[in-house]
Amino acid sequence: MKSWGLMNINTASVKDLDEIFKLESNTFKRDAFSKNAILNLIINNTFFFKLLDDGNSNQIIGFIIIIQDRENRVNLINLLINKQYQNKGFGTHLLKYTLNKIKEMTNIEVIVLNVNSKNKVAILLYQKFGFRIVQKIESYYRQKKSAYLMILNI
Ligand SMILES: CC(C)(COP(=O)(O)OP(=O)(O)OC[C@H]1O[C@@H](n2cnc3c(N)ncnc32)[C@H](O)[C@@H]1OP(=O)(O)O)[C@@H](O)C(=O)NCCC(=O)NCCS
Repeated sequence: MKSWGLMNINTASVKDLDEIFKLESNTFKRDAFSKNAILNLIINNTFFFKLLDDGNSNQIIGFIIIIQDRENRVNLINLLINKQYQNKGFGTHLLKYTLNKIKEMTNIEVIVLNVNSKNKVAILLYQKFGFRIVQKIESYYRQKKSAYLMILNI
């Protein structure tokens, strides 16, 4: 496993759009956000963090997007780790960092997210941090794939 010391978390900027969109479309294929949607999220977010591999020319190896959608609630819009870097603890690292930032927002009481109901790895990751499945939403994605609504009270 890579050394944590070489990993760095920063706020994403418009300069990162192409790299982030490439990761997004390679990972989510037909369900990916459009480039314009990613641009809007880079401009208008509560947190949009990128995880950089400092040991490899500052390549972006993952990102997480959080939007405050109610006075007391944030929505985890997306979390992604580049395929070659998955299952090495980086998703855990990025999520833990972000949850700590959300906890610093005194008005936030709940975090919500939607996840593909077949995405076992992501569901396990969220459950590890205390997220609970509260609802199944049929036909949430294209091709009628269903999602779970998960929440974490903080
Ligand atoms: C979901 C995702 C972000 C997880 O990131 P990651 O860096 O691979 O995850 P981690 O290495 O931190 O592992 C987190 C947990 O997932 C589970 N896990 C990870 N890889 C797994 C595998 N191959 N098989 C089974 N469980 C696995 C484990 O429970 C692990 O926790 P533990 O090691 O403490 O038991 C990453 O797989 C990803 O980007 N997937 C594609 C995009 C996606 O589906 N995002 C979620 C959208 S809501």
